[in-house]
Amino acid sequence: MKAFRGTLVYFTGDPRADRGALRHIEDGMLVLDEGRIVSAAPYLERPGVDIVDYRGKLLVPGFVDAHVHSAQTDVIASPSDNLLDWLERHTFPAEARFADAAYARQASAYFIDELLRNGTTTAAVFPSVHPESVDAFFEAAAQRGLRMAAGKVMMDRHCPQAVRDEAESSYRDAQALIRRWHGRARLAYAVTPRFAPTSSERQLELAGRLLEEHAGLLLQTHLSENEEEVRWVRQLFPWARNYLDVYARYGMIRPGALFAHCLHLDGGEWDTLAAGGAAAVHCPSSNLFLGSGLFDLAAARRAGAAVSLGSDVGGGTSFSMLRTMHDAHKVARMRRLPFDALDGFYLATLGGARALGMQERIGSFEPGREADFIVLRPDATPLLARRMAQVEGIEARLFLLMTLGDERAIEATYILGQLV
Ligand code: GUN
Ligand code: ZN
Repeated sequence: MKAFRGTLVYFTGDPRADRGALRHIEDGMLVLDEGRIVSAAPYLERPGVDIVDYRGKLLVPGFVDAHVHSAQTDVIASPSDNLLDWLERHTFPAEARFADAAYARQASAYFIDELLRNGTTTAAVFPSVHPESVDAFFEAAAQRGLRMAAGKVMMDRHCPQAVRDEAESSYRDAQALIRRWHGRARLAYAVTPRFAPTSSERQLELAGRLLEEHAGLLLQTHLSENEEEVRWVRQLFPWARNYLDVYARYGMIRPGALFAHCLHLDGGEWDTLAAGGAAAVHCPSSNLFLGSGLFDLAAARRAGAAVSLGSDVGGGTSFSMLRTMHDAHKVARMRRLPFDALDGFYLATLGGARALGMQERIGSFEPGREADFIVLRPDATPLLARRMAQVEGIEARLFLLMTLGDERAIEATYILGQLV
């Protein structure tokens, strides 16, 4: 048994639907056994139990980044005119380097350490088209005992040769990777067609077949991020009623499916996504950086679609989920929509866990959950300290952390109860 004393904050549901879903214990104690949560309760002296004292700090479930690219660390902050220009000029050349296993290993280790430094303990990750990039990522994640999802990017057209596969080879490579990694330790495989324009219909069909052949796989891709991309999809798939219909045709609208961006969907597409139990991944930092558009949280909520948050590094400019929440707040304000600290922290913890189908394992402090958690420092910077001293209540403190915080606010990251 091991215990941690501090202010506990987590959710048992979506606070937008039920404000009672916030659990806040000001002088709390998190008790663990064998890397799992035993209880999250008010502090009580427990003779014989070692207590780590984090009084004055916040203990929160580790952040879930529902969309991020492990092969794009070195693309961050590359200026461009728009998404398609950015992919051609910066991103495909950077991903081509992941054909080299040694480079992929070094870059993956850096990437994962950067996630942990930012308090992200679980992520849905795009490596590159090269199987070596997936091995490198999963090896680094397994070594650190992390719960992670990733899969080989599938792309067999409209991209340079160095990052292109073939429909049949992508299927075979994915099969081998699934056998090697899916369900091993805390790892899950995500079938990962990059987006409709870079896959032939045959490749999308085979991606759908992978989902049918193996239980419990995730699916991740990009959807309706950029207006030019949407027009291109209309030309490439003239039979489709809309962008989402392309993915629907191949059986991809399902629980455990993660659709990044979802900026230019119509009401019917939102309804289809929600009815299928799939999740939208809101990536505000990337959407602002690439000028792609403003996510319509109201449309997602109206349809009842699951929503999660993604940094989308390297389209996004920060690994920090605090900064991602902050950008989500600004995007919501531009749309005259409410977005408070509870929205932000819910989406970055339990909301993300739910989108990945991992809500029984991570994302909250309910008994039995895996003890991946972080310690937030409310006075991480002089400005945070000054403003914290002026506010009262947990919501106001969380709002300051999400608006002014970044990796400096992460005092510690714990994986299965072990300090990283
Ligand atoms: N659409 C297709 N590929 C990508 C990518 O790597 N990043 C983003 N933001 N959008 C994409
Ligand atoms: Zn992306």
